[in-house]
Amino acid sequence: MIDRYSLLRPWLFCLDPEQAHNLTLKNLDRAQRFGLLQRLVSKPIADPQNLCGIEFPNPVGLAAGLDKDGKHIDSLAALGFGFLEIGTVTPRPQAGNPKPRMFRLPQAEAIINRMGFNNDGVEACVSRVRQSTFWQRGGVLGLNIGKNAVTPIEDAASDYIAAMEAVYEIATYITVNISSPNTQNLRALQGEDMLRSLLRSLDDARKRLSDRYGVRKPLFLKIAPDLDQNDIHLIADLLMEFNIDAVIATNTTISREAVTGMQYGEETGGLSGAPVRIASNIVIKALKARLGDQLPIIGVGGILSGADAREKIMAGASLVQLYSGLIYKGPDLVSECAKALRQS
Ligand code: FNR
Repeated sequence: MIDRYSLLRPWLFCLDPEQAHNLTLKNLDRAQRFGLLQRLVSKPIADPQNLCGIEFPNPVGLAAGLDKDGKHIDSLAALGFGFLEIGTVTPRPQAGNPKPRMFRLPQAEAIINRMGFNNDGVEACVSRVRQSTFWQRGGVLGLNIGKNAVTPIEDAASDYIAAMEAVYEIATYITVNISSPNTQNLRALQGEDMLRSLLRSLDDARKRLSDRYGVRKPLFLKIAPDLDQNDIHLIADLLMEFNIDAVIATNTTISREAVTGMQYGEETGGLSGAPVRIASNIVIKALKARLGDQLPIIGVGGILSGADAREKIMAGASLVQLYSGLIYKGPDLVSECAKALRQS
């Protein structure tokens, strides 16, 4: 598939990035429906990992943002991921930012996006999840939740709780995304007072939902790479205090150091792909130093090879996720990473 993808890539890269994204997913769905996908991609790698009471068939997951609305679950699952994270979904539908809002920086193997949580709203996503064969067969499906752009930051907790209630029954785990740079002030939720208050509300809400449904669903927190050691230690301590089950490190970066002077290098948004790899590894190491074995870390950011995935595990992650690497390397990156991790 890598060879096939390298033939396809120049053609896709001629298109506007968001158009290429939609076209690729549409064709992936077609290939899956006609049974072609299973023949084109390598067989999923079995390397079960037990974490937070969940059995992950292998440690390589799809990062949030690629399938925001759960429209392509079965075809993405066919690429061999051990788990999928859908979203970010918000309580109410929203259009996101004006286009263009996604940019390729091929020289740096990077993407800048300012999508702004464009999504059909949590209810639409939940009904799509229920219709997917992957979910019906018990596949590991994380639901990544966020707040609507119009909700004032002081009321963020009510949006997260509304979204959490809506996804609780269907999600294998729930990720609270407070690290997107594309929703005004969202990352302020990573500050001590706001985070303490948000995590307390979420912990209470989860207790209520656990009683209602008779099952305690794992709650993960996704953080930014643009944090210093103090911020990271503070966040790590709060995660433990408020019973969060795992931390996902990291989201995209607002730093432009690695892409200055490049076309689109100054576009507003979050930078992902190769330039975020080291920053994300630094956050993982700092988290690991503080958390030890008390709380697992899911490493994401700049994985473009099996060696990059291994580096995340060496830094302290238990599982990994990818997004931008798929755009640059194609779907065989999933099995390449899963093989590299099985051997390590
Ligand atoms: C993202 N990412 C993201 N993350 C999230 O929690 N919710 C989201 O809605 C999105 N949306 C999104 C859109 C686009 C176009 C990109 C490229 C990324 C961030 C993503 O999940 C991941 O954390 C970062 O991209 C870093 O990993 P990669 O892309 O370097 O593998």
